[in-house]
Amino acid sequence: MIETLPRVVPAAPGKPVRPEAAASQRESAAIAADPASWSRDAAREVVRRYTALAPVWDGERGGYRPVPLADALARGGPYPAGVCVEAGAGTGLLTALLREVWPRVVSLDLTPSMIRRSSAPWRLVADASRLPLPSASAHAVVLADVPLFTAEAVRVLAPDGVVVWSNALGTDAPHHVPVASVLAALNEASPVPFRAVTAAAGWGLWAVLRR
Ligand SMILES: C[S@@+](CC[C@H](N)C(=O)[O-])C[C@H]1O[C@@H](n2cnc3c(N)ncnc32)[C@H](O)[C@@H]1O
Repeated sequence: MIETLPRVVPAAPGKPVRPEAAASQRESAAIAADPASWSRDAAREVVRRYTALAPVWDGERGGYRPVPLADALARGGPYPAGVCVEAGAGTGLLTALLREVWPRVVSLDLTPSMIRRSSAPWRLVADASRLPLPSASAHAVVLADVPLFTAEAVRVLAPDGVVVWSNALGTDAPHHVPVASVLAALNEASPVPFRAVTAAAGWGLWAVLRR
């Protein structure tokens, strides 16, 4: 079941275009459908791409990236207390927002040059396809413009935990996967079905999924 909330944050003119989005969306959809499509070569390519982007990430993209996540946190609750895992945390642009809801956020990223720029209190280099966390230990798994490794998200999530999904450029975001596909992929990995609430916000969109 997907509940769509009305938009409350308008989209300003001037939305950027990412020429790499179509190819990246195909990869992200493949990973969501089958995590085995993730490979060492794919991981190396991610690190190469984001190592180049790291020095300009906050300056070029910092303004719009928090918008959908902020709306998700404002309207997608209620949120369970506990540990939040921020997978693909990048330079930490979103971590402060998350810490307002979950004071304990574990921020991880595959690309050392990205996460090194973060000032998050708990940050590490790690691959979201193999989360370095015990099963059922997290009350939120936040995936803001990252590939979706559903089996790992479901494994680390506590029974009342939530998955927070956001794409800062909405359906045009390089890692965008339609919310229906996110929901279907989570349900493949979970014996208890998820439901979703979603909305558009700014140039982006978000979904909060819970069981
Ligand atoms: C589009 S950026 C988003 C960064 C941050 N969430 C934000 O909104 O500013 C994608 C990030 O995901 C990271 N990433 C991609 N694949 C990953 C994986 N398998 N495990 C962990 N991080 C990954 C990249 O290194 C990059 O920093």
